[in-house]
Amino acid sequence: MKLAVLAGDGIGPEVTAQALRVLDALRLPRLTIWHGDVGGAGYRRHGHPLPPETLEMAKAADAVLFGAVGDPDCDALERRLRPEQAILGLRRELGLFANLRPARMFDGLEDLSALRPEIARRIDLLIVRELNGDVYFGEKGMRRTADGRREGWDAMSYAEDEVRRIARTGFAAAASRKGRLTSVDKANVLETSQLWRDVMVETAAEFPEIALDHLYVDNAAMQLVKDPGQFDVIVTGNLFGDILSDQASMCVGSIGLLPSAALGERQTEHGIFGLYEPIHGSAPDIAGQGGANPLAAILSAAMMLRHSFGREDDAARVEQAVARTLASGIRGYDLGGQAGTLAIGDAVLANL
Ligand code: IPM
Ligand code: MG
Repeated sequence: MKLAVLAGDGIGPEVTAQALRVLDALRLPRLTIWHGDVGGAGYRRHGHPLPPETLEMAKAADAVLFGAVGDPDCDALERRLRPEQAILGLRRELGLFANLRPARMFDGLEDLSALRPEIARRIDLLIVRELNGDVYFGEKGMRRTADGRREGWDAMSYAEDEVRRIARTGFAAAASRKGRLTSVDKANVLETSQLWRDVMVETAAEFPEIALDHLYVDNAAMQLVKDPGQFDVIVTGNLFGDILSDQASMCVGSIGLLPSAALGERQTEHGIFGLYEPIHGSAPDIAGQGGANPLAAILSAAMMLRHSFGREDDAARVEQAVARTLASGIRGYDLGGQAGTLAIGDAVLANL
């Protein structure tokens, strides 16, 4: 098993280090670990946020464990050199079109949710976010209007095959859970969304056992805080998925708890090639202080064990160790507690 570790910027290296301690403790047979530079770190050392050698390393691996990218010192660079281009480039170059973002309530954290505990308690949902298309990857630019005003523009589009493959991921995920799929779009306004909805309905015929319904994204945002327990699997486009997954994280208590998997079609020896990352960013304001919560990174490693390394038992062990850590009252600063990055890592290892 070949693992490329791309820790990146800000708190990325700190939280990734704890995930690597957990992997080390599992004593996985035949695991080779490589380290590569991405983001602001990639730009400073190689002049590009996604240096060619890093991309080659990722392509040669069975899985990528990703930290975070984003660095305020790079915000003035032209867009193609900004740290965020590293993750966008990896997703596209590696064909990682399906982003799984689970959000569930951990026992003992109900009071920390932005929602009332009795509502938060019921959260156990999975957001399936399309990751290779939409307004993220359309043509974009700056131009002048006929009368000389500056105008920024971004093209939003989805082709039917792009929608169909993420639809199938969504339906398959629902089949492995409670059998309910909610497709989120803005079909009352956008043609992109009309096609999205049409293809969802067509694809439903392949999965007669799944109950499909549709929500407009504004309503979905409202329902997510009103009654998140109603959701099983949500499938949506790149932009809406970006927004709804951050929202879901606060319903659970902290963005420091949510892992993610970005999967494509390439099979590896033990599973499917994927990139695994916490959904939080580089958090430059708290970087280097030892206070970041590493649980999202550790849970991302668990998803990697499951999807890329075919080690469901180890994945479940890690998830149980995290659940026990939280149930025992260990809280990071993000959850109003006093436990630092290392202390949380220690607690997870002890519970493992
Ligand atoms: C995410 C992030 C990225 C995104 C940024 C860093 C480009 O917000 O993974 O959710 O918008 O996809
Ligand atoms: Mg985001």
